[in-house]
Amino acid sequence: MGSGIESIKLGAELIKQGEVVAFPTETVYGLGADAFSSCAINKIYEAKGRPNDNPLIIHLYDISDLDKVAVDIPEIAFTLYNMFCPGPLTMILKKAPNVPYSVTGGLDTVGVRFPSHEVARELIRLSMPIAAPSANISKHISPTTAQHVFEDLQGRIPLILDGGSCNVGIESTIVDLSGDKPLILRPGAITKEMLLKVANFEEYKNNNKALAPGMKYTHYSPCCDCVVGDTIKDIKSIYDKNVKEGKSVIILAKDSTILSLGSRKAWSLGKNGNEAANRFYSLLREGEHQFALIIVENLGDEGVFYSIMNRAFKAAKKA
Ligand code: TXA
Ligand code: MG
Repeated sequence: MGSGIESIKLGAELIKQGEVVAFPTETVYGLGADAFSSCAINKIYEAKGRPNDNPLIIHLYDISDLDKVAVDIPEIAFTLYNMFCPGPLTMILKKAPNVPYSVTGGLDTVGVRFPSHEVARELIRLSMPIAAPSANISKHISPTTAQHVFEDLQGRIPLILDGGSCNVGIESTIVDLSGDKPLILRPGAITKEMLLKVANFEEYKNNNKALAPGMKYTHYSPCCDCVVGDTIKDIKSIYDKNVKEGKSVIILAKDSTILSLGSRKAWSLGKNGNEAANRFYSLLREGEHQFALIIVENLGDEGVFYSIMNRAFKAAKKA
């Protein structure tokens, strides 16, 4: 593990030599490799144990780099860039011919993102384009600290850059701009409400034909059981039933909900969507170490809460 400019330079060298490097972004930690080297890309799939039809996002420094990896770029991509980038937004565009199919999982489109985290930006500036999925073992919870990456990938990768805890805490919003109408493939901190101010985005929800191929796989799963509690009454009764059966149980809930839970064990998701996103994965990981069951409060479908619940339902294997 390392941090600081010398470590970033070492990371850039390793990437140029065809190695994989874990690095912080504002969303979650990524596992990066040279996007133009199929051999390096294969090392990502191998280290994560990821199915190789699940495409990777390419990370770039700024908009002037976009034509290195995408073609026929629509005007809306520039509008979204100006509003939200660098930041937690991934755009799906038509891929340039030189982007290997190993990055795109055989698709003619490519996911592109411009992270805002300073360590990511410097690494990308020195060694882009960097293809990177989240730096967890396939199907596990995305890592939001260098320690999380270490727990999942120690011994499998040569370097983890430590940039502290990720501010956003859940993966980027993915929008597909490659078709006739703009679609939201994965909700995130750039919310549907924010995107609707820019264009008539629709949410892609057909689970049978996953447009983001990764969405068809199990994701975000803690090793212990996980369930979503829809109401305070539900949360209490699930908790009490399981504790009675001898299980160790933790509740993840908003501050205001915790006030109504009495002496039941609960960890705070904070008081708003951004705080909840920032803590969610970290608490899932902490929870799986200590408890047999995690009950997540249903936070509803507004703003970032909706994006967190998208992950929570998957963690509870309901989606
Ligand atoms: O915040 C993030 O996006 C993080 C950081 C590291 O940048 N990355 C991340 O990558 O979450 P990953 O691989 O865990 O998730 C990427 C998702 C997958 O569901 C994948 O299927 C989808 O993006 N994706 C990538 N390229 C695509 C494409 N061309 N078309 C549709 N979906 C795509
Ligand atoms: Mg992932």
